[in-house]
Amino acid sequence: MSPILRPDRVLALALLGLAVGVSTPAAAQPDAAKLYADNCATCHHEARTGGQGPALLPVSLGRIRKTEVVATIRDGRPATQMEGWKDKLSEDEIQALAAFVLTEPKVQPSWTFADIVASRETHPDPVVTKPMWTADPLNITVVVEGGDHHVTILDGDSYEPITRFPSRYALHGGPKFTSDGRYVFFGSRDGWISKYDLWTLTVTAEVRAGLNMRNIALSSDGRWVAAANYLPSTLALFSADDLSPVKVLDVADEKGAPSRVSAVYQAPERKSFVAALKDVGEIWEVSTQGPAPSFEPRRIAVDEPIDDFFFDQGYRHLLGASRDGDKAVVVRLEDGKTVATLPLPGMPHLGSGISFTHHGKRVIAAPHLKEGKISVIDPESWTVIDTITTSGPGFFLRSHEKTPYIWADAMMGRQKDGMQIIDKETLKVSRVLTPTPGKIAAHTEFDRSGRHAFVSVWEMDGELVVYDAETFDVVKRLPMKKPVGKYNVFNKITFSEGTSH
Ligand code: HEC
Repeated sequence: MSPILRPDRVLALALLGLAVGVSTPAAAQPDAAKLYADNCATCHHEARTGGQGPALLPVSLGRIRKTEVVATIRDGRPATQMEGWKDKLSEDEIQALAAFVLTEPKVQPSWTFADIVASRETHPDPVVTKPMWTADPLNITVVVEGGDHHVTILDGDSYEPITRFPSRYALHGGPKFTSDGRYVFFGSRDGWISKYDLWTLTVTAEVRAGLNMRNIALSSDGRWVAAANYLPSTLALFSADDLSPVKVLDVADEKGAPSRVSAVYQAPERKSFVAALKDVGEIWEVSTQGPAPSFEPRRIAVDEPIDDFFFDQGYRHLLGASRDGDKAVVVRLEDGKTVATLPLPGMPHLGSGISFTHHGKRVIAAPHLKEGKISVIDPESWTVIDTITTSGPGFFLRSHEKTPYIWADAMMGRQKDGMQIIDKETLKVSRVLTPTPGKIAAHTEFDRSGRHAFVSVWEMDGELVVYDAETFDVVKRLPMKKPVGKYNVFNKITFSEGTSH
């Protein structure tokens, strides 16, 4: 018996048909969540927070383009656990997985104090009274090889590697050294802090401070480590001794609006940590004075969130770049007042600013990420006294007390293979070095004497090119896997004016 079809029923059936049609079409939409759980979660964690493989969250993958995510899933990464999936998954499934890992999870994964505690590992390090090798301990250069996540410890005189060891995934923000040059702390994108003993070549402690971290800082007395996190929005504090957590600050402005932390630095003259907050108009200063600091933040109000900053030589002022990338504000730390605003169009990158002596006066230089320009700033009048025109926007600047030049890359421009040598007196590019034609040249570091400069050929099959900083002759070439950063112990612990901190 056929039912009498009433108009409302017809509509309901039609709608039902439509709904069914959407959810189970003939060529089914891949169920990305299930594909992920079945194939990827073992290494990347069911909450995508990482494990054997890195975290796969938008905040972590933010800098990587979708095409690269797709290519990684399809083809894998050579010589790693990440194999290609093109033989096991269809192109649709690969695309769906890429979209899935680039989508915010419904519930943001959490990382509590208890998780931090549980993540910590310590390893006994041999008892020694001097380094287990013979190089000059203060002329050691630590090279972070981003290509395959390794660190090379280099003898700064012979340029011979002392050791090379696997690091956590994607170290960034620059390692921090204890003032005696013995220990170095690394921070990784996925929130790991590793403490490494250069004398015994041992990782002595590790802890996961957060799920996505920006950088770390070591207090001037060497007792505390601070970690700036994006996820969760925290500033986490640890004992530098064994990396045991001491306090985690949930970062939010006075009204309670949460904020990611863009960066944290130590201000040695002030015995404090200073943190840039990404989403709210505050800068935080956390005192590290006294035997048991309370780590209560001092809130410094600013008109707009500050992403990135630089201190003047005495750490009296902070120069901060605003997010819209066209100006910088100068905040006097003593009273928290904004004392000047500087026009700095083209995304100033203050985090890699340096100071140097120009006509007998100390000035500050900062590159711009969007323009082939370097701004030179007088920290007394807080005015831009000159703008150096370069062959393209660059990321890093380096100099040294003992050299008359600044070395600036142009890696964000069209002539990526050139390293520009800028005269500190004329403020002009006096020559351009090309370490390897056609390959990206970036990031210079000097040895402790300033006589030699190390330049990265920033490629998977890259190199570290050692230059004589006076004659500009190539002294040595060492193969390296994308050497993203190099750090000389002496220049770092003496706060050399030519390096960013
Ligand atoms: C056997 C462990 C393992 C499995 C299973 C695995 N991966 Fe990976 N994956 C890794 C490792 C290790 C890396 C880091 C490779 C490197 O060093 O570049 C990685 C890297 C990645 C990256 C690049 C992340 C970045 O930040 O650069 C993506 C994307 C990725 N995997 C997606 C997936 C997806 C999707 C699946 C499931 C189809 C999957 N992976 C399965 C281990 C694994």
